[in-house]
Amino acid sequence: MSRLLGIKGLLAVPFVLHSQPNAALTDVRTDDTVSNARRRYAEIMRDVEQLVNDHIEHQRRGIPERSKLKLLVPSLSIFFTPLMLEEAFMAQDARRAISSRRFVSPSFNDIRLILNTAQIMSLVKGGPLKLVTFDGDVTLYDDGASLIPSNQVISRILDLMSMGICVGVVTAAGYEEAKRYNDRLHGLLEAVHNSESLTETQKKNLVVLGGEANFMFRFNSQVPHLLEPVPRDMWALDEMKAWKDEDITELLDISEATLRDSVKTMRLKADIVRKSRAVGIIPQAGTKFFREQLEETVLAAQKVLELSDVGRRLPFCAFNGGNDVFVDIGDKRLGVACCQRLFGDIQGLNTLHVGDQFLSISGNDFKTRMVCTTCWVASPAETVDILDEFLELASR
Ligand code: IMP
Ligand code: MG
Repeated sequence: MSRLLGIKGLLAVPFVLHSQPNAALTDVRTDDTVSNARRRYAEIMRDVEQLVNDHIEHQRRGIPERSKLKLLVPSLSIFFTPLMLEEAFMAQDARRAISSRRFVSPSFNDIRLILNTAQIMSLVKGGPLKLVTFDGDVTLYDDGASLIPSNQVISRILDLMSMGICVGVVTAAGYEEAKRYNDRLHGLLEAVHNSESLTETQKKNLVVLGGEANFMFRFNSQVPHLLEPVPRDMWALDEMKAWKDEDITELLDISEATLRDSVKTMRLKADIVRKSRAVGIIPQAGTKFFREQLEETVLAAQKVLELSDVGRRLPFCAFNGGNDVFVDIGDKRLGVACCQRLFGDIQGLNTLHVGDQFLSISGNDFKTRMVCTTCWVASPAETVDILDEFLELASR
């Protein structure tokens, strides 16, 4: 987020200096403003690319806190790969006509998409990509919807799997039974089941991890609902094996109390949902919460938990799901790391997580940045675009 805003600020300068908003109003001609703007934007992206390389060198030497980029952007996370920002800028400029624009400066979305493209390019060039994890809602399907057979993402995921790439759906949606995941993901599961080009081994490279990092299922053509639970020993990290049931109950009790308090103080028309590894508020029929109410509820829960003893012992994730708020035991950093472990200790530079929730305060995909490379999408259509970009570049 702050990296994005930093780059946006840098690009604002050439926009002011080179764009020509008065071109339609006057005959006085200056130089070719489009190519000037493009050249300056590209130079800036190259400079940032070099800052990233410099930071990676500092990481390699074990002194990441001393890099220039870290000094400029203290919230910087780990870089698992370089970012091909200049080339990515040229590719997105060709699509989005960024340097031809005279009134609208390079936006947050322009830069988010340039970063995504740069990440994909770097993974194709370096990587190699061995594992892709996807968030569910808003990344694979619309909020609250299901992955139905007509979803465009299915054929792309099958293409990844046919290259031997492992796939995980790492979703906050937490259910203990395979049937519930089949209800949400049946389009994908049936397509994998019916595929004649995927080998049985490749088919087994599909897992679903629900409740952030709590319930893992693996594809199996032979079982009802096409998903079978994976024994916890095979995927849970050592730090998770040490979790105590009393701590889980205590953390959920505290969360439930703060959620109830938010419902009461803001007079929300909400129901409380308590599960074995999560507690949340969901809207009563016909209710749409305001974003501010959702954020307030998240922040209140987060603060109380952070200050509690049990909140220091147990990782948790409080997040705004669009029209609900959940506190889950564990988070997606663990979720992705569990997938990496199951598939044979796959490294961060060989893993990509695609998600929509990367706003640091209330997003549940944010923490995956600590264990792998990431792409930040705003819709399922953008997920399809990213996969097309990868598949196209990888086939060259
Ligand atoms: P994601 O985008 O795939 O991570 O799914 C997040 C959404 O799953 C939330 O906004 C909720 O609507 C829904 N959900 C259902 N059960 C749970 C749960 O146990 N914890 C968190 N979210 C849940
Ligand atoms: Mg999501």
